[in-house]
Amino acid sequence: MSLLTPDLLRELVAEARLAPSVHNIQPTRWQMLADGRLALVDDTTVRAPVADPTGHDVRVSHGAALEGMSLALNRRGLSIADVAIDDQKSTSPHAVVCRLTIGSGATSDPLVDNAPRRMSWRSTFAASSQDEASLAELTASRDDLVCIRDRKQVADIAAWADEAELSFIRAADFRRELLTWMRLSPNDPLYLQSGLNREALAMNAIEAVGARLVLGPLFPLLDRLGLAAPLLSDHAKTQSAAAMILFCRPRGEDPLLSGRHFYRAWLEIDRAGLKACPMSSLADHPAFNDRLRAMARLSDEVRLVNVFRVGRPSASTSPRHFRLPVDQLIV
Ligand SMILES: Cc1cc2nc3c(=O)[nH]c(=O)nc-3n(C[C@H](O)[C@H](O)[C@H](O)COP(=O)(O)O)c2cc1C
Repeated sequence: MSLLTPDLLRELVAEARLAPSVHNIQPTRWQMLADGRLALVDDTTVRAPVADPTGHDVRVSHGAALEGMSLALNRRGLSIADVAIDDQKSTSPHAVVCRLTIGSGATSDPLVDNAPRRMSWRSTFAASSQDEASLAELTASRDDLVCIRDRKQVADIAAWADEAELSFIRAADFRRELLTWMRLSPNDPLYLQSGLNREALAMNAIEAVGARLVLGPLFPLLDRLGLAAPLLSDHAKTQSAAAMILFCRPRGEDPLLSGRHFYRAWLEIDRAGLKACPMSSLADHPAFNDRLRAMARLSDEVRLVNVFRVGRPSASTSPRHFRLPVDQLIV
């Protein structure tokens, strides 16, 4: 007999959707199957093909959603007893990624309470006397995190992050796609539902108008004048971080599993009293990925999947999650 009812599924999905996804595109859907299992379904119409041409980040996002479902089940004393991965290529707009068997009797997951508190913090950080203890707690919690605290190294990484980001932004199709996922006006009908809105991006109204111009028609001119780089720079924010955290997973690991760990690592950051912002371009850009690997002396067995800047927020935070309505996430 299935442990799932339609009402329970709605409650579970409302919590599982708090998981992070690339550009907040939210590609994951959920479906109750006739055999009592729960399918994690890929909405293949939801993509960022320029930023994520291989679909790697979509699969990491599905992994995070899967972990979100595991946490939601755990809060109710339930668990995922089995994950059956679907390898078949599907042409359907809703392709099953995996089928979950729900079991009973879960021991309490210590990260459950961090799910509603975790958020992307895209503003500056403030140094604190507790940073050292928090970072020690964080790195002790997992063996796939490498912490870089040296101020010179943090400054170098801040410069590399800007260079890596600008190299992607120079492509017109990258800018176009990014703008389609940016919700720079509260009048955008999807402002509260998906993509990156002003609040999530820590931008005021004037900065949002500026971003639309810089990433839009003015970019080629500004770049020629050498103004695009300083206008788009995140240097001050990155440099204000207490540390850079390299998220490293075994080479060859299914990104679905990496995504589960990505979310858990981020929840551990929250549990240590810190906030974080991923900087994917550092990991996605081969030359900067290599430089970071060399800096941290990573072994050939691990892959640098992403980089977080972490610290204590410079202003008070009340996490908000901009997500699609539950009804749209159940198919
Ligand atoms: C695979 C992946 C890559 C991401 N890369 C970035 C990034 O490079 N920069 C960034 O600001 N946020 C990045 N994010 C964070 C998402 O934009 C964020 O999770 C999403 O907007 C939802 O917001 P929330 O984290 O506040 O809940 C990434 C998330 C995922 C899952």
